[in-house]
Amino acid sequence: MEANTQITISIILLLFGFSLVYSVTDPNDLSILNDFKKGLENGELLNWPENGDDPCGPPSWPHVFCTGNRVSQIQVRGLGLKGPLPQNFNKLSMLQNLGLQQNHFNGKLPSFSGLSELKYAYLDYNNFDTIPSDFFKGLVNLEVLALDNNPLNATTGWFLPNDLKGSAQLKNLTLVSCNLGGSLPEFLGNMSSLEVLKLSLNRLSGGIPENFRGSLLRILWLNGQGMNGSIDVVSSMESLTSLWLHGNHFSGKIPYNIGDLVSLKDLNLNSNDLVGLIPNSLSNMGLDHLDLNNNHFMGPIPKFKAVNVTYESNPFCVSKPGDLCASNVMALLEFLDGLSYPSRLVGSWLGNNPCQESWLGVGCDVNGKIITLNLPNSKLSGTLSPSIADIDSLTYIYLQSNNISGPIPSNWTSLKSLTLLDLSKNDISPPLPRFSSSVKVVLEGNSLLNSNPSKDSPSGDDHSAPSQESRFSPTSPYESIVEKSSNKSKLFVIIAPIATFAILVCLVVPLSVYLCKKRKDEHFAPSSIVIHPRDPSDSENAVKIVVANGTNRSATSMNTFDSASVNSSESHVNESGNLVISVQVLRNVTNNFSSENELGRGGFGVVYKGELDDGTNIAVKRMESSVVSNKALDEFQSEIAVLSKVRHRHLVSLLGYSVEGNERILVYEYMPQGALSKHLFHWKKFQLEPLSWKRRLNIALDVARGIEYLHNLAHQSFIHRDLKPSNILLSDDFRAKVSDFGLVKLAPDGEKSVVTRLAGTFGYLAPEYAVMGKITTKTDVFSFGVVLMELLTGMMALDEDRPEESQYLVSWFWRVKSSKDTLMAAIDPSLDIKQETNESISIISELAGHCTAREPSQRPDMGHAVNVLASLVEKWKPLDDVTEEYSGIDYSLPLNQMVKDWQEAEGKDLSCNMDLEDSKGSIPARPAGFAESFDSGDGR
Ligand SMILES: *[C@@H]1O[C@H](CO)[C@@H](O)[C@H](O)[C@H]1NC(C)=O
Ligand SMILES: *[C@@H]1O[C@H](CO)[C@@H](O)[C@H](O)[C@H]1NC(C)=O
Ligand SMILES: *[C@@H]1O[C@H](CO)[C@@H](O)[C@H](O)[C@H]1NC(C)=O
Ligand SMILES: *[C@@H]1O[C@H](CO)[C@@H](O)[C@H](O)[C@H]1NC(C)=O
Ligand SMILES: *[C@@H]1O[C@H](CO)[C@@H](O)[C@H](O)[C@H]1NC(C)=O
Ligand SMILES: *[C@@H]1O[C@H](CO)[C@@H](O)[C@H](O)[C@H]1NC(C)=O
Repeated sequence: MEANTQITISIILLLFGFSLVYSVTDPNDLSILNDFKKGLENGELLNWPENGDDPCGPPSWPHVFCTGNRVSQIQVRGLGLKGPLPQNFNKLSMLQNLGLQQNHFNGKLPSFSGLSELKYAYLDYNNFDTIPSDFFKGLVNLEVLALDNNPLNATTGWFLPNDLKGSAQLKNLTLVSCNLGGSLPEFLGNMSSLEVLKLSLNRLSGGIPENFRGSLLRILWLNGQGMNGSIDVVSSMESLTSLWLHGNHFSGKIPYNIGDLVSLKDLNLNSNDLVGLIPNSLSNMGLDHLDLNNNHFMGPIPKFKAVNVTYESNPFCVSKPGDLCASNVMALLEFLDGLSYPSRLVGSWLGNNPCQESWLGVGCDVNGKIITLNLPNSKLSGTLSPSIADIDSLTYIYLQSNNISGPIPSNWTSLKSLTLLDLSKNDISPPLPRFSSSVKVVLEGNSLLNSNPSKDSPSGDDHSAPSQESRFSPTSPYESIVEKSSNKSKLFVIIAPIATFAILVCLVVPLSVYLCKKRKDEHFAPSSIVIHPRDPSDSENAVKIVVANGTNRSATSMNTFDSASVNSSESHVNESGNLVISVQVLRNVTNNFSSENELGRGGFGVVYKGELDDGTNIAVKRMESSVVSNKALDEFQSEIAVLSKVRHRHLVSLLGYSVEGNERILVYEYMPQGALSKHLFHWKKFQLEPLSWKRRLNIALDVARGIEYLHNLAHQSFIHRDLKPSNILLSDDFRAKVSDFGLVKLAPDGEKSVVTRLAGTFGYLAPEYAVMGKITTKTDVFSFGVVLMELLTGMMALDEDRPEESQYLVSWFWRVKSSKDTLMAAIDPSLDIKQETNESISIISELAGHCTAREPSQRPDMGHAVNVLASLVEKWKPLDDVTEEYSGIDYSLPLNQMVKDWQEAEGKDLSCNMDLEDSKGSIPARPAGFAESFDSGDGR
């Protein structure tokens, strides 16, 4: 490795035209090294020559590495060195890699301020006792910092300064057991390159900040301190493999969608104040290790899939996994769930027999039947659970003087023995179900129930509201246009999410990927960057980046820190085992971008298939040179910018991009089955099997998940704007990924709409967008509704060859779906409709209608679509069948730096279009002429 580095150095020196004769070490660096040694009690362990004056050599001093005549590395791990560091240590201004770990260094840490070359700083396992407040200033290249196990600022503790924000490439931050205080710094949640955050055994307090939602962390350790609050945000951190939260005061429930963490292997929640039932999605996770001990988990113990699971010291109702609780116990626990598990009741409602164990507020008769629920004035807040209707012996319910909100569940009317229901002085809202006249319902002091609080049964009077089955409905968005009909509301059934939560049984082979890019040398403007997955099973090394310019290329690997100069225009494996490929290679593997290799046309160019030497298939999207217009550049950059932020199993991954002369090339993972449009509209022409209903449902769910993810990213919400079957790509097992992010926009805060120039594809455009250019996430929901209609009918959104009334699919579909017969006649004839398909077809039709409601506010959000589809997909196949669904490669792409490099190489600032760092809320302007191909006048 050393030799290798030296060869590289000599080549670099040659290239710079420097003399090959090594210069004598910079005198400043020399004096700091001498101070370093002198300050130590046992400096002789370094084996540095007495009176030596040239640490850089050759030969260089032991443990010292140089670049030219400057010290770039000091590696003294575990030598047993004792003593302080010189306080002017940061004068070693070219220091890149510092390994001081596992010694007995002590005293005050010197400031590292201004060490702008420093990438790796291992200071862990020493006795440093003070950290200066300017320690983290200007560490712009820092990737790894370890300060674990140092007694820093022990009396007062210390706070992580905001300066660390400037270390935009930080990947590993490990500060275990070093007296870190305060709250978990919010800015860490914003650092998109951060993968490993270990802050265990410190003095942190407070919660996990909301902006950690969607963070790409792989490892998060916060165990062993005074943190509190809910752990809801963690369920959105989909890259997590290890999550340690034990030994804190976290409270609330385990998020029901914890199963979204498909890469998670190690989850430790031991010793917190967590409550509630264990969510199904948790029991189905294929964890290696799960620790639930010492919390307040209730209900049954599920049969966990996890390999090594413990759950001691929790108030479960039974002791054997898989055994069910008594039905009245379940009913009461669900009641608690609605009220967010008040601690007084959690402490009392133990065991599996409310009557024998005398649960607080639960009264029984001599036969052990529950007669009374008596919890007035108990500070209960939340909503009433329909589960109570299952306790059919219940006769008296006293819940007055609490803060209960929401309606009374309609099926409480089926409680046969009920004679008194006192909900006075709460916050109950209509509709009121119709109780039989034998029930006395007391509702005074509920301000939402109008002015007419009734003491007696409201049966027959105006309070009785329609049952929950009838719902409101928007008119079809097209009726007033197409049929000029009256405003009369039609009955419109909004599909209720059927399952309480979707059980995600996704066994993803997690492939975390480390990217590491050699810091660009000022003299080498990179012009081409290609990332290549070498060996998917080798997660440490799976993706390589090559930074290259005209004649010289070098590659780095994170593990070895070595580099090698290699020849141009070849694809080959260099010393560190990385495959290096160049634009020339992309040319070769696509047969010089020949038309036989063409896969399709995307946002700004043609997509070609390529096969690398090792058999990896890639998709290569090349901007057509004739269209290197502002618009195309804009889309190119936009796509990189978006893909560098998003990463999801249902979004196509970007593997790299190239910029050389006029070439603009994006390299993606290859999706063997191509676009959905091919399988849906052109299957005959390509002699394909038509898609089965089951596949269509899965595709719809995948797309909904991908778009939901785009909409709900932590700091920025993205709007795709061009969702359509040709942008939905299929893998060999017909799972879908959304592609083509060239038109993606950042959504502004909240639901505010932005007015923008029109882009997208007519036929899929939401009316408010087509007419006024307003976009919100609901614009995508509309397009998704159109895609659902296409999946149902096999008809394209817009087809001028069809009879006039059905040319525009959306308005036609709204008309046919109003009757079961016309709907069934409209279903794609290539579908084999069976009894069990029928129900899901009508649910999807309703969903399609709901998504294409004219008013954006009446459209559901994507999460609703996911819920509806997930419940259907679940019903559709046995659970075992689902486990292999989500295999796939997931690439981590902290590309921000690359985009910056590209901009620099390009010599122009395109940041007005898509500023990578602070783009929230700023909608980039598109160049004039952008909307040329779309006539917004048609959009009505
Ligand atoms: C640690 O303590 C020293 C002196 O007690 C103080 O100057 C310094 O600001 C503290 N460090 C941090 C990061 O707060
Ligand atoms: C970053 O942290 C991970 C997980 O602890 C570790 O495997 C990896 O080696 C670290 N990287 C470096 C460069 O220290
Ligand atoms: C994190 O990012 C969001 C949006 O990008 C920003 O509003 C917020 O101020 C940032 N927080 C910190 C602590 O930098
Ligand atoms: C968390 O702890 C802090 C004190 O460290 C306290 O102010 C706050 O109310 C607690 N929050 C919750 C949700 O318990
Ligand atoms: C389960 O994990 C714990 C660590 O939490 C370990 O001590 C124990 O040996 C593991 N048991 C098995 C069977 O792997
Ligand atoms: C009441 O509704 C809940 C949920 O909708 C259901 O689980 C329960 O079985 C119903 N009970 C009765 C008696 O209808």
